[in-house]
Amino acid sequence: MPMDMPTVLVTGGAGYIGSHTVLALKEAGYRVVVLDNLVYGHRDIIETLQVEFIAGDISDRALLDQVFANYPIEAVLHFAAYAYVGESVTEPAKYYRNNVVGTLTLLEAMVQAEVYQFVFSSTCATYGNPHQIPIPEDHPQAPINPYGMTKLMVEEILEDFDRAYGLRSVRFRYFNAAGADPQGRLGEDHDPETHLIPLVLMTALGLRDRITVYGTDYKTPDGTCIRDYIHVTDLADAHVLGLSYLLNSGETAVFNLGNGDGFSVKEVIAAAKKVTGQPIAVEEGLRRAGDPAILIGSATKAIKTLGWNPQYADIETILEHAWQWHQKRHGG
Ligand SMILES: NC(=O)c1ccc[n+]([C@@H]2O[C@H](COP(=O)([O-])OP(=O)(O)OC[C@H]3O[C@@H](n4cnc5c(N)ncnc54)[C@H](O)[C@@H]3O)[C@@H](O)[C@H]2O)c1
Repeated sequence: MPMDMPTVLVTGGAGYIGSHTVLALKEAGYRVVVLDNLVYGHRDIIETLQVEFIAGDISDRALLDQVFANYPIEAVLHFAAYAYVGESVTEPAKYYRNNVVGTLTLLEAMVQAEVYQFVFSSTCATYGNPHQIPIPEDHPQAPINPYGMTKLMVEEILEDFDRAYGLRSVRFRYFNAAGADPQGRLGEDHDPETHLIPLVLMTALGLRDRITVYGTDYKTPDGTCIRDYIHVTDLADAHVLGLSYLLNSGETAVFNLGNGDGFSVKEVIAAAKKVTGQPIAVEEGLRRAGDPAILIGSATKAIKTLGWNPQYADIETILEHAWQWHQKRHGG
């Protein structure tokens, strides 16, 4: 391992995507410091990662100043945020405070500490209802919920921080993160869980009675919503490439991270039945407000510019890795 690899700060590194990225960063040789308040993250993940850990909040400016003073941090990868779309509608203040004000506090601390490289977890939710599929990065951004709006606001703040302070950023707009570390060390463990794949697998494990399909009358071949599922390890690899792009003086840039392909809710459930060999009871429900029929992203820019080479595009592989993790995590 190279001796002089940079030190990076990962906020939200005890969460799902952050922890997989920490693993990839460590494997690439970086020294990683994680900051997480463990509101949704897990302490046992930190133990698995064997990483330097600071239990704290991104809105604690004094703590941030101390972290930047104590470690030779060259870049920040910022995963910490609240990400429940429904809750963001009923409790927008909580989302604007954590995702926007908290991020602003972090960015101000970075500028003061002269740390000018930032990798940001944005989302396809900033596009709102797309009028073009697959969605390119220059598609208009018009979020239809406060969660998406918080991420768009940070994207705008980042443009201004580059112009004013020279803080360069890579903004990754993820589609649906899914799957788990292929070696079974980490996986997805949100509480509450709202994502389709873990909910389907928890149903297969008998931890839930059934899976509800929200809407079967969309204009899609089988009537259910189509989403772009991207393996979390492929996401993690993209972050290592995005970081290296910035460390090599790359300009501020935005990249979609998705598969470029979509699967309907019914297709995911059918594939999960095949992978798990278990029956999965399904209940048909009404559409949820604000769910576009189809969300598929074009990631050709990340592939061309960063040399990103996703390894696990196949939905059955994504499900197999997630299934392996869920059986281990929930004792199935
Ligand atoms: N999961 C997805 O499919 C998806 C899609 C698009 C974007 N994203 C974004 O990716 C990022 C990571 O998502 P995830 O699914 O891993 O979520 P997660 O909840 O598993 O991870 C977020 C982590 O941030 C921590 N955190 C939250 N607020 C904090 C604060 N104020 N200070 C310190 N730590 C804090 C939580 O404890 C948690 O460990 C989020 O920014 C999310 O908005 C996720």
